Formats: sequence, structure tokens, C-alpha cells
Amino acid sequence: WAIYAPYVKAINQLKKERNAVILGHNYMTPEIFHGVSDFVGDSLQLAIKATEVDADVIVQAGVHFMAETSKILSPDKTVLMPDMEAGCSLAESITAEGVEEMRRRYPGAPVVTYVNTTAEVKAASDICCTSSNAAQIVAAQESHTVIMTPDQYLAQNVAKDVPQKNVVWWEGSCIVHEQYTAKDLRDFREWNPDTRLIAHPECPPDVVAEADFSGSTSGIIKYVTDEKPQKALLITECSMASNIADELPEVDFVGPCNMCPFMKKISLEKVLYALDTMTGQVEVDALVADKARLSVQRMIDLSR
Ligand code: 13P
Ligand code: SF4
Repeated sequence: WAIYAPYVKAINQLKKERNAVILGHNYMTPEIFHGVSDFVGDSLQLAIKATEVDADVIVQAGVHFMAETSKILSPDKTVLMPDMEAGCSLAESITAEGVEEMRRRYPGAPVVTYVNTTAEVKAASDICCTSSNAAQIVAAQESHTVIMTPDQYLAQNVAKDVPQKNVVWWEGSCIVHEQYTAKDLRDFREWNPDTRLIAHPECPPDVVAEADFSGSTSGIIKYVTDEKPQKALLITECSMASNIADELPEVDFVGPCNMCPFMKKISLEKVLYALDTMTGQVEVDALVADKARLSVQRMIDLSR
């Protein structure tokens, strides 16, 4: 922590001067998560927080789609992205034209779009979802057929949870979670029968089926905090276990994890630079933002 201390001090000072808050995703490294974030959480919690915070500036310690969501919900605030290259393989997998293609394939079906998308894709959709409310949002649609974009695995996991719906999907995937296989989990369990396996729903459905629990990043934190298993393997991004290990000394976090190269682009140095120079301001075209806001707000209203 000693090497981080000067950055943490400078960032926290600049936050006061700029009336800024830092919204930190659960996949941030511990020095960002614990050292400078004012609020931490999963995608849904951070989106809701963006509508509530009383600040002039939001620094999004996460990936670009999260900053766009904050800007869509708080157009009058300055939203800073410490590294514009912090993208997401899901957001890259689909454009607004892809959404229209799905509408042509399934006429009349509503489009439920994961928040891991650009503002244009959200604007072309009917409603958004996150991993913590996807099943609830799909179940609430009137139509029997529901289009989910762009995460095929989240869609397949939701399809199992909401069997009354005919869920159809776009073929996108997360480069972090698609790497896990059901065989990995079976092999691990054979040698570690007393370890609780906990998977994010961006993992393929056969991986989720092998796990003891599946949930959003905050759902995973809640599960481990409530259950306090002796040993836990978090089948998700590496920083998750690092961020909660200190508060849960009774849980032994074991096993391999996968790193998100996009989330890991955010560093204390870049947060400091963004706040100091006020560079990395996220802008969303006003017409696109108006339409995208409807999709995000419908999701928030249904999730309350
Ligand atoms: P959560 O909404 O569960 O935090 O997921 C966001 C994400 O990008 C997971 O890969
Ligand atoms: Fe995107 Fe996957 Fe990284 Fe999340 S973990 S930001 S879904 S690439």
C-alpha cells in the first residue's frame, strides 16, 4: 500500500476540489476499489448510483459502457473515463444494425439488451438488463418470444430460469467468462470436493450448471458474505476475490481466475491524471442519449 499512498492522497484531495465521486466496479484492483472509490458495486448498482449522486463530476472506474450509462443518466454531469481504450468484448460484438437484424428475424419481439453495449445499441433496444435482473426483465415482457443481445451465454442461462419464454439471442460473448469449461469445474471438484464453486452468468450454461451458485458480481459477494464457505472458487474476474478476501478472513479463496484486460486498463495513475487534467470526458449524442435513457430507465424502474 505504501507505493499507492501518494496517489490515493492526491486523488482524494482532487475529488474534494472538483466535487467529484468515483464509481468503482467490483472488478477494479484493490487499490482503486478500497483506496479511492466512493461507491462500489455491480453494473446495476453503479447505474442507479449515477442517478443519485450529488456531484459535478463522476469518474468511472470501470469500462467505457459503464461511463456512457452514467452520462446517459446524468447528462449535466461531467463523466470522466480514465482510459478510453477500456472497452468490452460484448459491447464490441453488436451494433444498432445488429439489433435491427434481430427485429427483422423475430418480428414484434421485444429487445432486451445487456448494459454491456454502446449507447447506440441501447437506443435501438426496448429495455436494458444487467446480470442481476436479466431473468426478471425477460419474465416481465408481454411477448412470448424475447430477443436478448448481445451475450449468448447470459441469454441461455436466463432461458433456463424463465422457461415460459422463448428466449432468442445474439452470438456475443465475454472473453473472460467464455474461457471456463464445465470439464474444468468437474476436474476441480474431483480434487477439491469441499470448495464452493461460484460462477458469473456470463459463463456458458454448462459451467453455470456445474456451479453451486451463479449471480452478478454483487450477487457473488453477497453469497460469499452470507454463506462464508470454508473454501470458495470464484469463476469470474480475478479482482473479485482480492477485493473481498480481507473482509472475509474465514474464507479461503482458491483456484485460478481470468483477468479482464479492459478492466485492468484502469490504474490509480490514470484516475489521477483524468481528475487533474479533466481529460477523458465521455460524450453521448443528445438524440441517442434520449433514446438510450428510456431503455436504461425502464430497466431501473422494473428493478426497484
Ligand atoms: P456485473 O453487472 O455482474 O457487475 O457484471 C459486469 C461485467 O462486466 C461482468 O463481466
Ligand atoms: Fe466485458 Fe467480460 Fe470484461 Fe466484463 S469481464 S467488461 S463482460 S470483457
